[in-house]
Amino acid sequence: MVRLLLVSDIHANREALEAVLEDADEHGPFDLRLNLGDTVGYGPKPNECIKLVNGFTSLRGNHDYSIEDNILAPNTNPDLAIRIHRRLITPEHKSWLASLPFVYRNSEHRFAAAHASFDDTVPENYYRRYILCKEDAETSLNGLKSLGARIGFYGHTHVPALARKTQSGDILYRQYDPGRSADPVTETFDDFTCDDNPILINPGSVGQPRNQSPSAHYAIVEIGTKTRIILKAVAYDIARTQQEMRELGMPPRLIQRLETGT
Ligand SMILES: [Fe+2]
Repeated sequence: MVRLLLVSDIHANREALEAVLEDADEHGPFDLRLNLGDTVGYGPKPNECIKLVNGFTSLRGNHDYSIEDNILAPNTNPDLAIRIHRRLITPEHKSWLASLPFVYRNSEHRFAAAHASFDDTVPENYYRRYILCKEDAETSLNGLKSLGARIGFYGHTHVPALARKTQSGDILYRQYDPGRSADPVTETFDDFTCDDNPILINPGSVGQPRNQSPSAHYAIVEIGTKTRIILKAVAYDIARTQQEMRELGMPPRLIQRLETGT
């Protein structure tokens, strides 16, 4: 059995990431810690978050990519935050962001990871294309198969979700809200016959959730004769992150949305 810790969309929110790591420590050890990208963007502490994911296998998300991309739409909130981050992030950390892969594959346990999607029609899809419905999930499940994987981890939407193909060929796509239940959401799948029934897992966002729950989200996945997926949400000091963002002059909308998880 292999045990994985999954985080995604940290978005420079140190308070949220520290809360997740503290909670996850109680459930370790893990064979692999996987960071699905967007370590930076939006939040106040990009360098600190990059340091905290030392020891993770990290992927490159669209915000990580934008740190070195000179083409930005003028004055949208995400781009204003990116401009601030370009000033804040150290040259060493910029090089680290630029070195990250867009796709990760584990051939032994046959899983793969990408920030956004496994739709391989164009390379940008790996870090830009959203999976938000059954149709998106189906395209991605096909891409996952062509990578030789039966389980795919992705982020980007900031919403915890699972998608899979059933024995009858139907696509199931379900979003979750672990912040609203007293216990973590747990889904267990029998030994897959998974070649035929691949599965996609989104752990939600550590640093800027959009599932109407302001908690920091992450997931634990155990892959063995059964596959168990545990989706978790933990509280953190939102006010402190917001204060740090105010001090940097971040757009008010980005500060406010942390309270509502939108
Ligand atoms: Fe993101």
